[in-house]
Amino acid sequence: MVRYIDAAEAPMANDGVIKLYNKDDFAGLQRAGQLTATVLDKLADLIVPGITTEEIDRAVYAFGLEHDAVPATLYYRGYTKSSCTSINHVVCHGIPNEKPLRDGDIINVDVTYVVDGWHGDSSRMYMVGTPKRAAERLVDVTYESLMRGIEAARPGNTTGDIGAAIQTFAEGERCSVVRDFCGHGIGRLFHDAPNILHYGRPGEGVELRPGMVFTIEPMINLGRAHVKVLSDGWTAVTRDRSLSAQFEHMIGITEDGCQIFTQSPSGRNKPPYV
Ligand code: MF3
Ligand code: CO
Ligand code: CO
Repeated sequence: MVRYIDAAEAPMANDGVIKLYNKDDFAGLQRAGQLTATVLDKLADLIVPGITTEEIDRAVYAFGLEHDAVPATLYYRGYTKSSCTSINHVVCHGIPNEKPLRDGDIINVDVTYVVDGWHGDSSRMYMVGTPKRAAERLVDVTYESLMRGIEAARPGNTTGDIGAAIQTFAEGERCSVVRDFCGHGIGRLFHDAPNILHYGRPGEGVELRPGMVFTIEPMINLGRAHVKVLSDGWTAVTRDRSLSAQFEHMIGITEDGCQIFTQSPSGRNKPPYV
């Protein structure tokens, strides 16, 4: 049985019960989401051929520091960076390093700032230099998959409706949906109930109610869906080495739909970022 609880009454733990947040909570989540969206906006100017993912990560750390925000990934389960940077066939959880980006690379940068205890989790794709046609198409399909999922996020629908909308669109474009990672409830905790699968059937899963807050973050591959995690324990890559892309928004369910906490303040939700 699925249970829901007023977040104010809930223990600060993931006990599987779904927390429902109020108007003030939504305001806090919006502030955290907007700070994350603002740094993702800024990164669009920084990401050019020759820059390293370590430099991107330092910019994310510094911007957080200037705005009294701590990156949630820093020292999270042994992770030691302020962002995840996932290039080309890396699906997610790429670790920033000193290797320069090259013309034609595609990269996802995933940031979660904690502001006044509230998490703001979002990621976007960036094109390094001039994109290749196939990469551009994958990035477009992935963004549209996320937005189809968000359109299905409203009271009365279920988490399965979100997954089905994403899967139907992505597979209709001859791409595949990664099964090994999912969206998640979020709030004062980084990862909370429920899981948001990016595939599934309409009507399955958990009923969506006003006050629920979670991420949708589909990982879409040009080739097959299968992934493996490298020996560093984090970096997930496509088994067939095909390109992978991801976008992530954090949303809250409202009476008549949803509020996107991580919208770009400058309209830079997807490339090209002009
Ligand atoms: N930000 C990622 C997410 O969307 C989680 C990264 S956890 C880390 O849920 F430890 F890899 F950073
Ligand atoms: Co997330
Ligand atoms: Co994220």
